[in-house]
Amino acid sequence: MKKILFVTSEAYPLIKTGGLGDVCSSLPKALTELGQDVRVLLPKYPSLKTVGEVRFLCSLRIDNHPITIFETTIPDSPVIAWLVDCPDLFNTLGNPYLDEQGLPWANNADRFTLFCRVAVEVAMDKVNRDWRPDIVHCNDWQSGLVPALLSLEIDRPKTVFTIHNMAYQGLFPVQSIYSLNLPGQLWNPNGLEFYGMLSFIKGGIAYADRITTVSPSYALEIQTPAFGYGLEGLLAHRSDDLVGIINGIDTNEWNPETDPYIAQRYNVHSLHEKQFNKSELQRRVNLPVNEHVPLFGLISRLVEQKGIDMVIECLPDMVDLPMQLVLLGNGDKDFEQRLQNLAHLYPDKIVIIIDYDESLAHLIEAGADVFLMPSRFEPCGLNQMYSQRYGTIPVVRKTGGLADTVVDTLPETLNNNSATGIVFKEANAGALLEAIKRTMLLYHNHDTWRQLQTNAMHRDFSWRSSAEQYIALYHSI
Ligand code: ADP
Ligand code: GLC
Repeated sequence: MKKILFVTSEAYPLIKTGGLGDVCSSLPKALTELGQDVRVLLPKYPSLKTVGEVRFLCSLRIDNHPITIFETTIPDSPVIAWLVDCPDLFNTLGNPYLDEQGLPWANNADRFTLFCRVAVEVAMDKVNRDWRPDIVHCNDWQSGLVPALLSLEIDRPKTVFTIHNMAYQGLFPVQSIYSLNLPGQLWNPNGLEFYGMLSFIKGGIAYADRITTVSPSYALEIQTPAFGYGLEGLLAHRSDDLVGIINGIDTNEWNPETDPYIAQRYNVHSLHEKQFNKSELQRRVNLPVNEHVPLFGLISRLVEQKGIDMVIECLPDMVDLPMQLVLLGNGDKDFEQRLQNLAHLYPDKIVIIIDYDESLAHLIEAGADVFLMPSRFEPCGLNQMYSQRYGTIPVVRKTGGLADTVVDTLPETLNNNSATGIVFKEANAGALLEAIKRTMLLYHNHDTWRQLQTNAMHRDFSWRSSAEQYIALYHSI
């Protein structure tokens, strides 16, 4: 059994902006179920949604900021969460990283440096809780300084750094190294310096004992210039310590047999009942209720990564086909506007919901026939796995975790019952449209479609084997 301090900036349902939040609660749960002693450390944002008891654990002071650590559990689980409360810096409601205009909070460097410093105090048990982790497992740039700072400690725990997305690096002007009062030894081209900027993610990549990322394909991709954002050289240099472990999903949270958010529960043996969710979804979003027209769903942060520009380019051609689309997402204001303009032009075909809505996300997974995920890059991606579990056939681009989790429909994959979706290669609207047309043909072949749904629903996306890989990794350090 290992003691693991799991450091993250989000954990569902306490706080979530995307897949990081899902993974940073479902992985600690899976590790706990496999007998590990886990503490999840995250900031106590004012918008954090705790349930049940939150009790005082300890207090400390760093750089003159009074800090309190509270203890609670991740709701509906035995996993202990330690919440770092520093009202001086974490005092804003809403998104943990961005202000109302969608710009990073001006004091992000201060906020997450402080959070990392607290993680180091806890890791070294300077908070006197009589709990010293064997492993400190950090996630993404917000906790990237932890392996760097811990590298300066004698008799420190081992460190693992998981990259969920190379596109977010935590880059700040060079002056920050002084204003943040970071140790000078860390400031060099092999350390936190990145072309004259302070890089948080480099703290993880350069100093952690092991680096992981969230799919085997992405582990290879980030060692190339197209996906490495300038860090491909360092990642290739560290390739012996770098491994891709595919994310699992929370199979209790995303289960069509028990899902409280959907209109009609179903399983692989009662697939005909999925239909009720389709009509409920059509009603809910004001689309014509029609059993036979294929209904496409898309749930996403509206950012470049997700191929939203390709979807926008494709839509005028898509609407010539007999189909409907429900898109739920928010993010880039320009994407939001352009999508809404298109929805106004084709109100009986396209519905765009600019919102973040956990329960509608479940109904879309259950009610749609097809799930669109044409990402330009995708470290892992969760929705394509949720979709398969709900018998909703994913259309994905062959990249990162999408390539690792969806099997294209080809004569041989139909023959051996491995086909679960439609996979296309090129990152352009033409290739996406071709894939959509291919999907429409398959959809109208009832037997083949049922076979795809059945294959998809039989896939095991639970955390068990991936969590076991993490435990083996902890033991190997
Ligand atoms: P990423 O982390 O890059 O955003 P993932 O596929 O790993 O992509 O995870 C996205 C998660 O966020 C999924 O659980 C998805 O359902 C959820 N999500 C994204 N946008 C929304 C939204 N607008 N409303 C509800 N859930 C959303
Ligand atoms: C990131 C990635 C996504 C991944 C998620 C959880 O947000 O964009 O692909 O599934 O992290 O690891």
